[in-house]
Amino acid sequence: MNAKKEIRRGLPIGIIIVLLLGCTPAAQKVAPGDYRITRPGATSVVVVHSRSGNTALVAKLLADAAGATYVRLKAPEGTGDSLISSPNRNAEVAIEPRTVDLSAYRTVFLGTPIWFWHPAAPICSFIRANDLTGKRVVLFYTYQGGLAKTAIDEWKALVAKRGGTVVEVIGINRKMHATDEALAAEVTSIIAGRLKSLLPSK
Ligand SMILES: Cc1cc2nc3c(=O)[nH]c(=O)nc-3n(C[C@H](O)[C@H](O)[C@H](O)COP(=O)(O)O)c2cc1C
Repeated sequence: MNAKKEIRRGLPIGIIIVLLLGCTPAAQKVAPGDYRITRPGATSVVVVHSRSGNTALVAKLLADAAGATYVRLKAPEGTGDSLISSPNRNAEVAIEPRTVDLSAYRTVFLGTPIWFWHPAAPICSFIRANDLTGKRVVLFYTYQGGLAKTAIDEWKALVAKRGGTVVEVIGINRKMHATDEALAAEVTSIIAGRLKSLLPSK
């Protein structure tokens, strides 16, 4: 396939050069207690992979708004630090946890950064390992400006293969926000807008 045709929303040349040189932003240091927030009685769960913290920030806001349990996937140290340490989306990554008991949840939020124009490998591994039968699924991602035309359809198909139905897709371009506060403001506005009908009323 012609690579130029596959890419939309602009090729983030700067990002690719940075990645090739192996100087991505540092991986976020996560305290052990920050990998999971359990909310007894929750009917939603937010499962996220995040290397440098952007997608985790979005995930936490979504989990707070939905009163959801929050699970941040751990990938082996160094994953995504450079081109050579970024597994292909179809590769199996040794994520922790590999499975989550989803039986109590009606809605499953799945979040990831975009790596090389596609959802990153850890969230794809999680989807392949879990049963989404009958679940409403909200997909969310952060990126810096470029993903493949086919990326979202491919991601939706992966969810469908595991029995889930994608009801919403949220993409946040990190480059559009100078600060975490600005990013949070966009998420808050999405929560009050197109996500409202999917969240439990308070
Ligand atoms: C290995 C790697 C590959 C990336 N590839 C892309 C890409 O193809 N397109 C894009 O827009 N951003 C790309 N990015 C930027 C990330 O998607 C963006 O910074 C995201 O917000 C990071 O999320 P996180 O902080 O939750 O890890 C890449 C970042 C890394 C580390």
